[in-house]
Amino acid sequence: MSAVLFAANWKMHHGPRAARALAQAVLAGTKPVADRLLLFFPPAVSLPAVVEAVRGRTDAAVGAQNIHWEPKGAFTGELSALLAMEAGATWTLVGHSERRHKFGETDDETGLKVRAALGAGLRPMLCVGETLQQRTDGEKENVVRRQLEAGVGALGAEELARVAVAYEPVWAIGTGVNATPADAAAMHRTIREWFARRGAPAAGCSVLYGGSVSPENAAALLAEEELDGVLVGGASLTAESWLRIVATPRAGR
Ligand code: 13P
Repeated sequence: MSAVLFAANWKMHHGPRAARALAQAVLAGTKPVADRLLLFFPPAVSLPAVVEAVRGRTDAAVGAQNIHWEPKGAFTGELSALLAMEAGATWTLVGHSERRHKFGETDDETGLKVRAALGAGLRPMLCVGETLQQRTDGEKENVVRRQLEAGVGALGAEELARVAVAYEPVWAIGTGVNATPADAAAMHRTIREWFARRGAPAAGCSVLYGGSVSPENAAALLAEEELDGVLVGGASLTAESWLRIVATPRAGR
């Protein structure tokens, strides 16, 4: 039985004080259980505060939203994997759609970031997903396979087992329109097949869905056994909403 991942991406919300309070409220509202992992991705400035809040909880971990691939140097405004580790992070997102589409992050850069994360001992969660146009053009699987190839294609099976993938179709992020559970599950199968072809153990690869996950649709999405968890933006910003999602029963696991 693998743990279900509930990942909260707070994007550019919640400074140290608010982030600590929210993490504390979420942890106070949940009992540690072995089959669930709570992941917090606060803004970089709030990493230490959230790390402090989760200390002692084996069912919770903290990650950076983005890293640079160089270990150190003259990169004003950037965060290296080592600095994120030093702040207590154990995970990092890589290639979130907002990084790709608002900041021009390239496929090749995601590959460099994944390598830097693994090299420093951080677990990368590679975000992939097609735009509405790419979906309309019938290209969604090709787009996701290309993003996988660029992001994690150079890794061996052992390294692949440390990678999680979040399928976040761009048209579903922050729009209130989620992928249907069946659509999400179909893409998760495509991702898993890609991993299996690289020799990665199917069970070792966690695939999450993200894009307008809410307390109302979480149960239907997580009823799909292809989904190992959810990566949530807007609905993770308050304890009330996030706790309702985290409490989603997982049938059959
Ligand atoms: P929303 O849940 O707000 O749609 O955001 C999804 C997301 O981008 C999580 O990384």
